[in-house]
Amino acid sequence: MAVHAIIGGTGLTQLEGLTLKEERLFDTPYGAPSAPVLSGEYAGRDVLFLARHGHPHRIAPHQVNYRANLWALKQAGAGAIIAINAVGGIHAAMGTGHLCVAHQIIDYTWGREHTYFAGDIEHVTHVDFSYPYDEALRGKLNAALQVLGYPHSSHGVYGATQGPRLESVAEIVRMERDGCDIVGMTGMPEAALARELDLPYACLALVVNPAAGKSSGIITMAEIEEALAGGIDKVKQVLAHVLVA
Ligand code: HPA
Repeated sequence: MAVHAIIGGTGLTQLEGLTLKEERLFDTPYGAPSAPVLSGEYAGRDVLFLARHGHPHRIAPHQVNYRANLWALKQAGAGAIIAINAVGGIHAAMGTGHLCVAHQIIDYTWGREHTYFAGDIEHVTHVDFSYPYDEALRGKLNAALQVLGYPHSSHGVYGATQGPRLESVAEIVRMERDGCDIVGMTGMPEAALARELDLPYACLALVVNPAAGKSSGIITMAEIEEALAGGIDKVKQVLAHVLVA
């Protein structure tokens, strides 16, 4: 069976409960990944773990070396990737604490190293990205959420913004018009790079705040941190269920 790799986002820079076997700092043609790749057992299954922002959290979304991260996970033997992303909720159903298994993505990021087909290469492959996320993996995440009974959406369009600032109200209005249900800063180019490496990839998003203009006030780091503290245990339960499925 494919070894699952988990990319932990904000609030999940380490995977408590992981029985660590090895910690490997990879050197890739694209530079250093955000952190060492941890391999070990979680819920009795072999798993790889990488902290997207480093551990402790120190790398901003636009400065993450996504290419090195994905490359390192592939080198470490990953056969599938589950990405954990903290997001803002745009659609009314996406309240704080809600979980969403994204099915589509719109990329609003810019200036990031977003492809392996750059520099001195023999040929460019235009990978298909019609369906950015792996259906089998999405199915497993949704099945786990169903069993656990956590409030969730089995579909959602993820809008990936540049950050590190949050969005203006007008930007969120535009994103809503575009069809985005959730907004985060790390969904791209990660998903596309996984596709270029032929790695099945899915995103489990945890809503940690209403997006700009979707509540009566402004967005504070305190509310985001509180939501993370309340939601990460649920994320870990889902991961455990997916691994043993
Ligand atoms: N916008 C973008 N990224 C985010 C948000 C948000 O509101 N919350 C958590 N990550």
